Amino acid sequence: MVAADRYIGLRRAARASRELATVTAADRLSAMDWLPHQQAYLESAAEHRWRLLRTGNRLGKTTVLAAESIYYALGEHPFDPRPPIREQWAITISWSQSLAVQQALWSLAPKSRLAPGQSYDFRRGFGSANPSLLFDNGSVIRIRTTNQGSLNLAGFQVGRIWFDEPPAPEVWDECVARTRTAGGLIAASLTPVGRDCTFLRELVDADKLYDVHTPMTPEAFVHTRSGRIYRTDDGRVCNAAWIEEVEAECLPYTVPVRIHGEWEFRLQGAFFGEFDHDRHVGPPPRNLDLDVYLGIDHGYARGNAAAVLVGVDRSTITATSYPTVYVLDESWAPAVTTPEADAAGILAMLRRWGWSWGDLRAGWGDIPTHAGAGRKGNLDVEDAVRRSLGLRSRDALFPRLATAKRGRGGAAGRGAVEYGSGWIHRRMVSDQFRVHPHCTRLIESLDKWQGDRDSEHKHLIDALRYALTAAMRGSSGGGAARRLVVR
Ligand SMILES: Nc1ncnc2c1ncn2[C@@H]1O[C@H](COP(=O)(O)OP(=O)(O)O)[C@@H](O)[C@H]1O
Ligand SMILES: [Mg+2]
Repeated sequence: MVAADRYIGLRRAARASRELATVTAADRLSAMDWLPHQQAYLESAAEHRWRLLRTGNRLGKTTVLAAESIYYALGEHPFDPRPPIREQWAITISWSQSLAVQQALWSLAPKSRLAPGQSYDFRRGFGSANPSLLFDNGSVIRIRTTNQGSLNLAGFQVGRIWFDEPPAPEVWDECVARTRTAGGLIAASLTPVGRDCTFLRELVDADKLYDVHTPMTPEAFVHTRSGRIYRTDDGRVCNAAWIEEVEAECLPYTVPVRIHGEWEFRLQGAFFGEFDHDRHVGPPPRNLDLDVYLGIDHGYARGNAAAVLVGVDRSTITATSYPTVYVLDESWAPAVTTPEADAAGILAMLRRWGWSWGDLRAGWGDIPTHAGAGRKGNLDVEDAVRRSLGLRSRDALFPRLATAKRGRGGAAGRGAVEYGSGWIHRRMVSDQFRVHPHCTRLIESLDKWQGDRDSEHKHLIDALRYALTAAMRGSSGGGAARRLVVR
């Protein structure tokens, strides 16, 4: 997976540097054939000092704001005639975004108008110390990355500031103060994800920030000069069919924001929009080598305890970068259950497939849950399993259950629900997901869950996410290498 990403990255970089070499940059900026929202954004400079370009990913936001920064540096903005702006800052949160900004600036800047000694490296950009682009008239565009903290801009006056990712409100305020006496231009190009954008929305509602917003429709991809339809880097025509494909790759509730640049995630129907019985319900193929994993959502209330057994086919990793997931079995009861009952349900799943506990490659459960004096967690289920297997101590049990960790990286954290569900959804999109028809409760949950935290349908889906902990990490999950064959 990592290797594939790196390969694509290198290919892209190689292509980009070929482009840079063949088309002279002066040509590139003046030859830009803007898309309608890019043109509308540029034109709005005539009337507004604070402007926002808000669309989904990959709609040319960074490109047009880089172009505008160059126009301003040279004093050649087509819709805002003013003398060159001496000092401009482009502000990003992450280094990768910073590099995207630098690459856009470099590829568009007319090289004949740069100060001597300017250079760009596709890995290091303008250099890591104080990345900047200096023009022959003395204008400069500096690139600043905020990471977590604020900017420490004390003393500086900046003519124009460009945010290429949603900034923290404190950073925004700091910047506004810095531009006040020097022209006061603020520009933002962003998809409203990754950070709470409420304050930006309020600025728009208060008519302080001019908002150019375009959803991803076929019309958004018609070039304004030539009337041609936009193509992706790999040559796909961006028509309605392509848009539908792009939408299907996202979790449905993220589509309004990620694809269409809307302010808020919104659910339209089922969370797993792509889940389709014809494609995704069926027994696994026979004679397949599988790594088998267990996921447990501990619960004491009625219908709250759930366990799922999955088989992961890692042979597809090389071909598609991802393993294929076969959900083999579920254990769930509508009643309140004891740890003994949960353990019996888990062992029954394994028995149905002719396997035993030791055949598991790994297993995960969430943190313990309590009901009155009762407690149910990994240790309690392990105890019940070992008693049922006649083992003296937990240490004789292998594999031991691991905790599906909370927090960002773990399967039980908040961001993890979106990440994990998104991962499962993408396996559905690429037909690398199949549930055995006897998992009736999980199938019902995949059909009905709407993404709400308190839903009765969340337990089976949580258990499934936990069972896929290793698969999502791209690892085997430790344990003994045991490939099981479905017969
Ligand atoms: N008007 C345009 N004509 C041709 N290609 C464009 C145009 N605008 C952007 N691109 C290309 O589209 C890709 C995505 O642009 P980018 O500015 O990075 O999008 P965003 O910032 O919205 O994610 C880049 O490869 C860029 O060179
Ligand atoms: Mg961008």
